[in-house]
Amino acid sequence: MKFLTPATTNPIDRMRYVGQPTNRIDGKFKTTGTAPYAYEHHKEVPNAAQGFVVGAGIAKGRIASIDIEAARRAPGVLAVVTAENAGKLGKGDMNTAHLLAGPNIQHYHQAVALVVAETFEQARAAAHLVKVNYTAQKGRFDLEAEKGNAVKPTGEQDPPDTKTGNFARGFETSPVKLDATYHTPDQSHAMMEPHASTAFWEGDKVTVYTSNQMIAWCRSDLAKTLAIPKEKVRVVSPYVGGGFGSKLFLRADALLAALGARAAKRPVKVSLHRHLIFNNTTHRPATIQRIRIGAGRDGRIMAIGHETWNGNLPKGSAETATGQTRLLYAGADRMTTTRVAELDLPEGNAMRAPGEAPGMMALEIAMDEMAEKLNMDPVQFRILNDTKVDPEKPIRKFSERRYIECMRMGADKFGWAKRNAKPGQVREGRWLIGHGVASAFRNSPVMKSGARVKLGTDGRVTVETDMTDIGTGSYTIIAQTTAEMLGVPLDRIDVRLGDSDFPASAGSGGQWGANSSTSGVYAACVKLREQIAAKLGVKEADAEFVDGTVRVGGNSQPLAKAAAGGELVGEDTIEFSGGLDKKNQLSTFGAHFVEVAVDSVTGETRVRRMLAVCAAGRILNPMQARSQVIGGMTMGIGGALMEHLVVDKRLGFFANHDMATYEVPVHADVPHQEVIFLKEEDEIASPMKAKGIGELGLCGVAAAVANAIYNATGVRVREYPITLDKLI
Ligand code: MOS
Repeated sequence: MKFLTPATTNPIDRMRYVGQPTNRIDGKFKTTGTAPYAYEHHKEVPNAAQGFVVGAGIAKGRIASIDIEAARRAPGVLAVVTAENAGKLGKGDMNTAHLLAGPNIQHYHQAVALVVAETFEQARAAAHLVKVNYTAQKGRFDLEAEKGNAVKPTGEQDPPDTKTGNFARGFETSPVKLDATYHTPDQSHAMMEPHASTAFWEGDKVTVYTSNQMIAWCRSDLAKTLAIPKEKVRVVSPYVGGGFGSKLFLRADALLAALGARAAKRPVKVSLHRHLIFNNTTHRPATIQRIRIGAGRDGRIMAIGHETWNGNLPKGSAETATGQTRLLYAGADRMTTTRVAELDLPEGNAMRAPGEAPGMMALEIAMDEMAEKLNMDPVQFRILNDTKVDPEKPIRKFSERRYIECMRMGADKFGWAKRNAKPGQVREGRWLIGHGVASAFRNSPVMKSGARVKLGTDGRVTVETDMTDIGTGSYTIIAQTTAEMLGVPLDRIDVRLGDSDFPASAGSGGQWGANSSTSGVYAACVKLREQIAAKLGVKEADAEFVDGTVRVGGNSQPLAKAAAGGELVGEDTIEFSGGLDKKNQLSTFGAHFVEVAVDSVTGETRVRRMLAVCAAGRILNPMQARSQVIGGMTMGIGGALMEHLVVDKRLGFFANHDMATYEVPVHADVPHQEVIFLKEEDEIASPMKAKGIGELGLCGVAAAVANAIYNATGVRVREYPITLDKLI
């Protein structure tokens, strides 16, 4: 089905199931430990051997020699896989560095060998016997030092430089100016479930149970890397214990499990051990961002410029930190540039809200600094600079943009009017109290997504799509969508996800998953409704599907009757002309308000109160959407105060590569969090009239914390994380 905007009235609008705060249908399996994760498919894959990955001990250079004989002879060892014996490998589209290195080493802890043994302990012990001699080369590890060598990125997905009006002149002639530079650090996804895969071969066909956000990408890249046809690869990922972008792509665990299983002629499971993950996989790259804003004395922005730099491996992607600056605020004279420097650190790539998350960390401090220069309230300053159109191309409108309402409602509910605008004035004993605000903004792309819906002879409905549930609630909103479309209660619906045998979906990424995948299910349900109607001898357009019946006028027939003669199957893929098209811009908006207390003696910051107001289209399940937003807010606390991969600039790796030293918020760090959703239906977005929410909840949070810290202390920190040493 091609989605034609605007969406017309459809069964989803009844909101009997969609829009309800339904409990997760997979909640019981997860909380009772019966949901099988990638490492736990003991039933489907008995007798799996265990693999242990050896990571490179240098950041850049070559393997001079690799001796695996001692490891091969160690107790229980079944196989040792290296680039020398793995056969010819191709490379997937999504990986910058090779997932099995040799002879060249591109980054620290890049996999150089997999040891397969009967038990995990045997594999780990033997892994220590693999002797690698390296010829190390000098690497580049310091973004600040390499910034001067940064170039304009040329990848298809990389952002262009943008120019509107005459920034230089506009900025120069602005009566009030800010020119400030901000630093965001390398960050790690630090999801709970490590990258893990269990693989087995049947003849020339490989099946991999893995933990992955994008089944179709994983399948295609695994086939390319193994140099076998896609049809010979099955990828299964029914449950994912967190992704945040770390599992968007094929990673070493899946490839090595497949290679290990081929070498050992046994099913093999591989989990990347925790301390390997931080340097072996991807991370959010550090940025340096220079922002210039010029405004009139009335507070209207005249000129806004945003330049960003990040580092990456050769041919690595840019961190698009300027995206929001192109769209969020008005102003006639504008420019953005993005530059990437080559670094020999592990691969930088997408982490929750890539681009906008670090971009908003900088832009929203800049807006706070600018409001102060103008002697304006930061809420008022933002509202004054709202725009209803794309400021670069005014013929493009936002599909929905309820940004001002988010700001006003947030200010009202948070009690913003009581804030003391002068920094460092409010004390409670030794604590300095401060309040901060930031915008929330994240684009909301839509992606092609397929599904298959079956009505069984018993009247039960089964939905199949390769969509993943990375803890976000896909199972539940897909069931709700199906229930609404077919008029079948939730307990008569079975949702089956994350299997490349099912129709290819949008997958979980870029906060497009919920809206796109339910739209695909909507399309498949339309097909099934047509078949049901034909079987029952009624016209689909006249029929109401409700309470397990199909009604036309006063006549009602049981839905199940349609499948009496055999199962009915509806399958379709929704296709979008592109939400980010010539006429419309699909984005989500919000406002974050934060109260902090900073210990005036130690500089310790405690976040005490948080409020988010979000406008993100129809909210498919308010309970799950709230969970997404408070998860984002929690991650924002980490971004503001804790998260920081520390680069060892001599040896070229992230020194704090475990969960003990890479700090993320724990329960004691997280205060009362409130989330308000504005009522909104976005008819341009999809037949669901929904948008994304999972990444919006993060964007802007760290800056709101930073601005609250400034309000509390009068200390302006432009380098994240805001640790106590920067406050005293
Ligand atoms: Mo998100 S970083 O696109 O998983």
